[in-house]
Amino acid sequence: MKHIFLYGPPGTGKSTIGKLLARSLKLPFIDLDRVIEMNAGMSIPQIMEQQGETAFRDMETAALKALATEKESIIALGGGALLREENRVFAETNGKVLLLMAELQTLLERLHHESGKRPLLSGDLKSKLTSLLEKRREHYNSFLLKVHVDGKPAEQNAHHAQVMLGRHHLSAMGEYDVIVGQVSNLPHADFIVTDENVAKHHLEKLNIAKSVILPAGEEHKNLETISRLWKSFLENGLDRKSTIIALGGGVVGDMAGFAASTYMRGINWIGIPTTLLSMVDASLGGKTGFDLPEGKNLIGSFHPPKLVIADPSLLLTLPERELRSGMAEVVKHGIISDPELFNLCLRGLDWVKDNLEEVVKRAMAVKIKVIEEDPYEKGFRAALNLGHTVGHAVELVSKFELRHGEAIAIGTVAEAKYSARVGLADVGLVEAVTESFKALGLPIQIPEEMPREEIIRAMRVDKKKNAKAIRFALPVEIGKVELVDVTDLESVL
Ligand SMILES: NC(=O)c1ccc[n+]([C@@H]2O[C@H](COP(=O)([O-])OP(=O)(O)OC[C@H]3O[C@@H](n4cnc5c(N)ncnc54)[C@H](O)[C@@H]3O)[C@@H](O)[C@H]2O)c1
Repeated sequence: MKHIFLYGPPGTGKSTIGKLLARSLKLPFIDLDRVIEMNAGMSIPQIMEQQGETAFRDMETAALKALATEKESIIALGGGALLREENRVFAETNGKVLLLMAELQTLLERLHHESGKRPLLSGDLKSKLTSLLEKRREHYNSFLLKVHVDGKPAEQNAHHAQVMLGRHHLSAMGEYDVIVGQVSNLPHADFIVTDENVAKHHLEKLNIAKSVILPAGEEHKNLETISRLWKSFLENGLDRKSTIIALGGGVVGDMAGFAASTYMRGINWIGIPTTLLSMVDASLGGKTGFDLPEGKNLIGSFHPPKLVIADPSLLLTLPERELRSGMAEVVKHGIISDPELFNLCLRGLDWVKDNLEEVVKRAMAVKIKVIEEDPYEKGFRAALNLGHTVGHAVELVSKFELRHGEAIAIGTVAEAKYSARVGLADVGLVEAVTESFKALGLPIQIPEEMPREEIIRAMRVDKKKNAKAIRFALPVEIGKVELVDVTDLESVL
């Protein structure tokens, strides 16, 4: 079973953050030091005093290894629990280790009340702690997943820990986990829906015998393909208890999710997104559907999956244009509420390619936060429409020559400029937004030849807008958007 181990110097808040994590991920919490005390029938200071540190470390190793048979849990470790190589190997093969780090001053403030409970720090706390940190510096530095806890409340640190772990439990619309991890850790499923491009590279990895391979592309996101899906479910004997997997980009996810929501009045599905856009956007939030000749996504349902596994290694086969396109949504998520993510995007596409896991983890966390607050788009979920009011219209008028993300980049710049013109944002914001898209090789201007009246008409008929005023999500600063109703659409362009 894969656990989540919290590790780091004493005083970093492993237990407090661990309990918060356990609560939001709906997992059990285990404090390994308490387990050792229970097993020994005495406190850690007593063990140390009566039996010495080596005996304590042996008990620690035994308590750790006993976790192999426990179900998945959040485990707070003692500050030196992974000094022994065998312990570290055990933890890293049985789960993920997240290191909590803090400055000496933070630790001193937190520990000065309780040094009596920590035998390795008794006496002159400052000099003991300084030398302990010095001795373990290299050891702590060697862990890759880190959260610095200084100056932030435990809730914020726990959220950051979740982002870095790529672990979320959603409950606002259905209950499901979203996990950044390998597709090899998949629960049972009966049938795979995928498309021809994805099948070529990734179908075999799933080791599930039955599948249907759809033609790729938005032009097939229609009722005909949905009927084909229903029929193939029947032909393959799927019943109300069956679970299907959507292995693909947003097109496959939307259609497989919709077919699952209607087949026998609804069966379970698991999302395995394979494009950047679907990892950070389409696979999250429970919206499923398909297109009519009259417009995109006109028919659909809310039917969240039972699980989403985002495996960033699947993106290595994605054509570069698709990766760029997905980055437009990532930048958007940075603008909505993660300035650090936005700054990372400024480093350009090569950096992104080398750091896909971090990009996916950060960007998905923004969408998850928004949809958990407002699952049915009664209010703030509309913030996710940043760049989309102009962007959708531009995409439509380009007759889908522009990829979705390319149109969204153009739309976001146009909306940022408008936001500056009406005094909501300053020009610095427009420059920053433009720079980020440029760094990723995304377009920033509405094509010269594209008639402005057509774009305005397209904005008006877009299904999400009510007739009189159109609601825009306008950027105010990096990390903040505001919902604004606009009546004079000419002024936007
Ligand atoms: N449900 C939602 O909330 C939501 C949100 C945003 C977008 N969407 C929908 O998502 C769709 C767009 O999704 P998309 O951009 O993922 O498009 P897509 O599913 O068409 O995938 C893009 C292309 O990449 C190929 N591909 C996918 N994964 C690959 C991989 N790992 N390696 C090689 N090729 C791969 C596909 O075959 C396709 O040709 C739209 O239909 C949009 O309406 C839905």
